[in-house]
Amino acid sequence: MKKTLITSALPYANGYIHLGHLAGAYLPADIFARFSRLSGKEVLYICGSDEHGVAITISAEKENTTPKKIIDKYHNANVEAFEKFGMSFDIYSRTSIPEHHKIAKEFFAYFYEKGLLAEREEEQFFDEKVNMFLPDRYVEGICPNCGADKARGDQCDTCGAYYNQTELLNPISIVSGLTPIVRKTTHWYFKFQDLQPFLEEYINSHEKDWKDNVLRQTYSWLKMGMTERAITRDLPWGVTLGDIPGMDVTKAAGKVLYVWFDAVLGYISATKVWAREHLGSSSKFADWWQNPETDYYAFIGKDNIVFHTLIFPAMLHSRDENYILPKNVPANEFLNLEGQKFSKSRNWSIDVRDFQEDFPAEHYTDALRYTLLMNLPETRDADFTWKDFQTRNNSELGAIFGNFVNRTSQFIAKNFNSRVPEIGNNFKKAWKKAIIHLDINFSENIDAAHLDDTFDKCFSENDKLMLTSLWQGIEKSKSNFLRFRIREANLEIMNIVRAANKYFNDEAPWKTIKDDKEATAKTLYVCAELIASFSVLFAPALPHASRKLQDYLGLHIGIGDPLKHPKHENIWDAAKLPLLQCDDYFNVQEILFPNIEDSVVETQMAKLGLKSEVQEITSTTKEVKKTKTEPEVAQLISIDDFRKVNLRTAKVLEAENIPKSDKLLKLQIQIGEEKRQLIAGIAQHYKPENLIGKLIIVVANLQPAKLFGNLSEGMLLAAKTPDGKLSLVTIENPEFPTAADVS
Ligand code: MF3
Ligand code: ZN
Repeated sequence: MKKTLITSALPYANGYIHLGHLAGAYLPADIFARFSRLSGKEVLYICGSDEHGVAITISAEKENTTPKKIIDKYHNANVEAFEKFGMSFDIYSRTSIPEHHKIAKEFFAYFYEKGLLAEREEEQFFDEKVNMFLPDRYVEGICPNCGADKARGDQCDTCGAYYNQTELLNPISIVSGLTPIVRKTTHWYFKFQDLQPFLEEYINSHEKDWKDNVLRQTYSWLKMGMTERAITRDLPWGVTLGDIPGMDVTKAAGKVLYVWFDAVLGYISATKVWAREHLGSSSKFADWWQNPETDYYAFIGKDNIVFHTLIFPAMLHSRDENYILPKNVPANEFLNLEGQKFSKSRNWSIDVRDFQEDFPAEHYTDALRYTLLMNLPETRDADFTWKDFQTRNNSELGAIFGNFVNRTSQFIAKNFNSRVPEIGNNFKKAWKKAIIHLDINFSENIDAAHLDDTFDKCFSENDKLMLTSLWQGIEKSKSNFLRFRIREANLEIMNIVRAANKYFNDEAPWKTIKDDKEATAKTLYVCAELIASFSVLFAPALPHASRKLQDYLGLHIGIGDPLKHPKHENIWDAAKLPLLQCDDYFNVQEILFPNIEDSVVETQMAKLGLKSEVQEITSTTKEVKKTKTEPEVAQLISIDDFRKVNLRTAKVLEAENIPKSDKLLKLQIQIGEEKRQLIAGIAQHYKPENLIGKLIIVVANLQPAKLFGNLSEGMLLAAKTPDGKLSLVTIENPEFPTAADVS
């Protein structure tokens, strides 16, 4: 059976995890791991602390303590923060353990013996005042590649270039602040150039399935040509070079492995520990790492790309033990905080543990996961803002998901005695049949899915639309997950909830309850089943809310945690089908996502030295009252925000239905000299022929999008009530010109 091996970059144990880290390599991997487990895959999700290298020794010097104290402190703190955040690692290991040192040394010894390492006596920076060599970040200077100031000895944060430190211009020792001298020392260089053909072939084989940012960086390295690189350092902390067969002990004294050489092997040493603890033998790590049936995905941030696409694969391949290579390296860009780069030194950061201290309840954790998820820097740098956190919680989680759960549960409590309403077996059977029908006929063309009139015997029009939305959301989320579009995948799930709210509105059970109890029971049965499905579909993103729901429903089908007794059922697909027993207790007795008040986010913003707009308005103009955030009512925006939206008058020239879509119309419109096409979701409210000649208002500067394969170059304005009534916003004077500005 296929196995799914997932790793997240091992964070240095020299600082607390902040929100930027989470959005980069941890949250998306956790969501993917949970999704994979729920899909019935055998999953192993590995992470741990990276505990060597100058990142650690410099922190120890700064905090005036020892490296060991530093790693213990931060390892433990990060374990706790990750745990509370709901990370589902199968193991969170560390690189300071003997098992790790052993395997790192074995790799080195093997390459040494194989002749893959060149021994060189080289000039290195040396600080005479403190009598030490200055590896990597111990020196700063001007980047030889881009000229940036304060570039580190091994890597430039500005342009991303990696170089040998003596190439640095104007070097300064960060220990003494003096200009270092150069002194000779022996190091071992890995002949990466020998691996060039292998690496080219490997990367070319992923030209189609890896993300652009990953390929771009990797190809730019390959183009420059792989060169030999020192994989040892002069440092008192790390994996030492003692007992390497054939190596001169005097030369090896005082040297340790370069942190990147050992860190990537941390994934393997962690697996060995896991295998020993769970399978009784560490050698069973090979079931994962040396098994062609394993799909391996390495989640990282963008500063780790080449180490995972070139260096690590070169090491794995050169070991000649059939190690598997990453099948994908989904690297994310960076997350900013309120528009600026995270920076601990400038105090511009939110540590996860600080968040957890101020927001201890689990629903806040889920709200944070959701906010980060919706802002994942998947293709470009993204931004976390406190206002967005509030809006995501109040207007999406609360007003859409929480609201659906709430209204359903309350209705069932009041009218059905808190029991899953009774529904005939025929309905359940028809549901299954409908799903099979969709599976068979539309898997290749998800957008076209629909249930034709042969299903009318059992279902209302609303039921058909709802089941189709459920099926579509599950299928689309799956295909997005498999392409590492984690955000998109979850948007699809949120769309099912939107459809569910619409279903509730359209079925109007508060009306039918008066004279048609049977129809009402059906509606609420469907809604209850949808909530059961949501407890699965939201499990990757919102594990705490999902677990709560499953607890309330007595439905313990899992939230994608590591499995103690693996059964490997495909619960993701099962969520298309009924999961509940009629007459079972059904009562969700809490608000899943309580509103977050303005004052709460204002306090957080104040911590960053930011003032919110609400604060500014209330303090300057007395009349403007603080608006209590109502569900679905967005936060206040500035006039400048509003001006970004370019609203224009337009005339409808042509209108037609879109085949296979009962919601969309295709319009040709005139805006001044320009003709444009719009796709509008108004087919259930307007006949095409009645639209021609109407003067409407459109958002003229909306990014074009494709809907059902048709280009839409803008959006028209319409008013809509919660129960689905819709009216176009039109201009009353029929002679009024088009392209006029609306404001
Ligand atoms: N510790 C490194 C960082 O935080 C990442 C190491 S990833 C590993 O940037 F693969 F080497 F572990
Ligand atoms: Zn640079």
